[in-house]
Amino acid sequence: MESLLTEIDHVAIAVRDLDAAIAWYEDAFGATVEHREVVESDGVAEALLRVSDSYIQLLTPTREDSPVAKYLEAKGEGLHHVGYRVADCAVALDAVKAAGGRVIDNAPRPGSRGTLVAFVHPKTSFGTLIELVEERLTHEA
Ligand code: CO
Repeated sequence: MESLLTEIDHVAIAVRDLDAAIAWYEDAFGATVEHREVVESDGVAEALLRVSDSYIQLLTPTREDSPVAKYLEAKGEGLHHVGYRVADCAVALDAVKAAGGRVIDNAPRPGSRGTLVAFVHPKTSFGTLIELVEERLTHEA
């Protein structure tokens, strides 16, 4: 079977101070922010810095009950999840379920940049929170 994972979409890093993290990536690497967005439903603000065809996603909570706030509390700043690009989020999610994987989202839902996403629980994916990301080209950031 051909891999359902077509590319690394993004590597997400949880930070306490989004502007400070952006400034550091700019100073250290000359990286530039391509997109910023607040995703109210997830209680996060994010900045995407492009690396070739992928992104570094700097993530910070916008409210105390956000999952990212809980993550920072428990584990501190650092790698939060990996976003794998897929052609069809629903197909990839079904494949995960069929393989016995535990999912956080039972069905694809809207993500940032107009993408369609679903999260896979780290418990059955060897400790890594995985986000399946389907690009929808009708929306260009
Ligand atoms: Co993400």
